[in-house]
Amino acid sequence: MAVNQMRSFLKWAGGKYKIINRIQQALPNGRQLIEHFAGSGIVFFNVDFEEYLVADTIADLIHLYKQVQVQGNNFALYASALFTPENNTEVAFYDLRAKFNACTDLARKSALFVYLNRHCFNGLCRYCSKGQFNVPFVRYTKPTFSSVEMLNFHDKSKRAVFEVADIKVIMEKAEIGSVVYCDLPYALLTTMANFCSYTKDGFTLNDKQALADCAKKLIGRDIPVVISNHKTESTQSLYSKAKIISFEVFIQRISIFQPNFLYTREFVCN
Ligand SMILES: C[S@@+](CC[C@H](N)C(=O)[O-])C[C@H]1O[C@@H](n2cnc3c(N)ncnc32)[C@H](O)[C@@H]1O
Repeated sequence: MAVNQMRSFLKWAGGKYKIINRIQQALPNGRQLIEHFAGSGIVFFNVDFEEYLVADTIADLIHLYKQVQVQGNNFALYASALFTPENNTEVAFYDLRAKFNACTDLARKSALFVYLNRHCFNGLCRYCSKGQFNVPFVRYTKPTFSSVEMLNFHDKSKRAVFEVADIKVIMEKAEIGSVVYCDLPYALLTTMANFCSYTKDGFTLNDKQALADCAKKLIGRDIPVVISNHKTESTQSLYSKAKIISFEVFIQRISIFQPNFLYTREFVCN
């Protein structure tokens, strides 16, 4: 299962680059990986399956992945043109952020998404209640555009399908040979962790319960499901029937938490 570790071309809150080895070890073999909550795509990028179904509820993210998949190098050149010293200023950032929020052209919007990701605070992706991207500018010395990672992603995406969909819809697509991995938005342990509210609707306890119910059904059909999240009382009780692998992770700029690896392969059906 383990392959070389590759970085993503996006920064992402809760990105799993530093613990990718743990995830590689926990994922069983299978024909197809179904990854909801894909974020920066680091798990998709660093595991080896014949096929992938990669999903997230952030439509702008999935549209970007489709642009990279279809256009490859042309898109990389197009997006990289936004990475100029003139665009690394507060004025240019807020102008481009407004253009992104008003944009309806998918290629342009996707290129702007990459620009915002590398010029905004900590690469966060957060939308206000009206659905507008609202993360503020931070002046990094030299924001990086990762064309190598983008082109590697393009190559790998030939075996992938990208979808914006609700988790239930995605999980219903699982069949024998599928392995499901869900990296849930973290529980809010501190005020700073509010940044983990990626979408305007957030991810509620009811959503977590619904996901746990879906996971149980899949386990009952012999389809393995692996879920990662913080170790809290509520997650422990939600996944009390799961095999749980716990370890500590330092989350940069937020705090030291004890997130858990909740491994539901051995979920027992009620
Ligand atoms: C912890 S991050 C995933 C990080 C990813 N594994 C990585 O390594 O970059 C959680 C993801 O859940 C997605 N998400 C947030 N709220 C959601 C919701 N209500 N339904 C589905 N996905 C959601 C976010 O877009 C985010 O990409």
